Amino acid sequence: MSKMNQMIDKIGKAFDSPVFTMISETADSLGYECYAVGGYVRDIFLCRPSCDIDVVVVGSGIRMAETLAKRLGKGACLSVFKNFGTAQVKYKGLELEFVGARRESYQRDSRKPIVEDGTLEEDQYRRDFTVNALAVCLNKERFGVLVDPFDGLADLEDRVLRTPAPSEVTFSDDPLRMMRCVRFATQLNFNIDDEAFEAIKTNAKRIEIVSMERIIDEFNKIMMARTPSIGLVLLDETGLLDEIFPELKRLQGVESRNGRGHKDNFYHTLQVVDNIAKESDNLWLRWAALLHDIAKPQCKRWDNMVGWTFHNHNFIGAKMVPGIFKRLKLPLNEKMKYVQKLVELHMRPIVLSEDKVTDSAVRRLLFEAGDDIDDLMTLCEADITSRNAERKRRFYSNFELVRQKLKDIEAKDHIRNFKLPIDGNDIMQMFGLQQGREVGELRSAVKDAILDGSIPNNREAALEYVTSLAADKGLKRVDNGKQ
Ligand code: CTP
Repeated sequence: MSKMNQMIDKIGKAFDSPVFTMISETADSLGYECYAVGGYVRDIFLCRPSCDIDVVVVGSGIRMAETLAKRLGKGACLSVFKNFGTAQVKYKGLELEFVGARRESYQRDSRKPIVEDGTLEEDQYRRDFTVNALAVCLNKERFGVLVDPFDGLADLEDRVLRTPAPSEVTFSDDPLRMMRCVRFATQLNFNIDDEAFEAIKTNAKRIEIVSMERIIDEFNKIMMARTPSIGLVLLDETGLLDEIFPELKRLQGVESRNGRGHKDNFYHTLQVVDNIAKESDNLWLRWAALLHDIAKPQCKRWDNMVGWTFHNHNFIGAKMVPGIFKRLKLPLNEKMKYVQKLVELHMRPIVLSEDKVTDSAVRRLLFEAGDDIDDLMTLCEADITSRNAERKRRFYSNFELVRQKLKDIEAKDHIRNFKLPIDGNDIMQMFGLQQGREVGELRSAVKDAILDGSIPNNREAALEYVTSLAADKGLKRVDNGKQ
């Protein structure tokens, strides 16, 4: 099949559904020109099926949607957004967005355009990228005809992101498009054309007029791509990273002393994120990878004996997580706690794999990681980015041992969801104590004894142990042994 015929075939298949016939008839009856545009059309050629369809009418998008919804009858669900001049029809799993063709002008300090009615070409011109500005006519007479005044199809073939209008204007008008550009480049594995790239560099500072929610939405799409590092490098090279995520930027660079350098923690982090992306679709595990070494710059020290050290970077890193999540408008709930936990614990399996693995150390790790132990192990394996094959092999095989040990100990001691058999209240009642340091100390002594394996994990043993500990401190039972 020739290229042209292939294209016609693809379009034919994408619009071969009764709903498009209905759209066609509705538009003709209203006397509107009507086109599918944006991501749906782009994705036809990239063979990425989608159910979100943007439709531009040269006329009123709202009237078009209302008339169509009536025709479609019961199965259709209409929502009108008067303020935006748009309307949505949901029908049989499809989401159809209708908008009138428009041209826009922008003010310097806002992403909100002043909108006026326009022609189809004006509408295409004000869109972000030529590949997103392809239109397919839905009117009966020209059904399936591709309208492509800015050579979007050629750009799709060349896999390049180019703006229909001068890039300077496109990005300055709506700086969110800079993030979209990096996101599309990452998701679709496209290049960014030189003019667009330069314009992002020039306008990077303007990202500040975009709400953090929108920015992070794009950032998370980059994180969820098959190879997130493509986007993270582009964010860096365009200067956007400096604006939105300076902590990550600070990981960059290598310092040498006495001929000893440390690894570049930015590129190391990127590699860990890519490694994790191969293993898991869990966005928050990817975030844990992104942040696992975030505190290294603050923790860097030179030691004449051992060279560069980063002591405590896992603890300080975990402490930084809430501040970063808050600023980036990420959720401050159990997802954040999960990331924090993994950042804090990410050194532990490595230590276990280097030392002789004691049961006690494994029990402690199980206790602290709980149900997230498997994710922690995945993160730790992803963290091995050494180029030395022998070193790598040694780590992996040690991790195998750690995993086995974790399994054995869990089967024996059930530590994963372990709850202390006695709590602070028990201790207060037993010895007539008020809440405070003493109670905390006794409680953690019981925890340590169980995790160390010096007493069994049951209530009776715990009571006996805490009583003898308390006696050493001069505390007597006041509950007549009721506990
Ligand atoms: N658009 C734009 N500028 C923006 C957002 C969107 O020009 N800041 C235009 C583009 O033509 C885009 C269309 O609106 O194709 C629809 O936007 P959206 O649904 O956000 O993105 P899609 O391109 O459909 O891609 P995806 O669904 O992957 O986000």
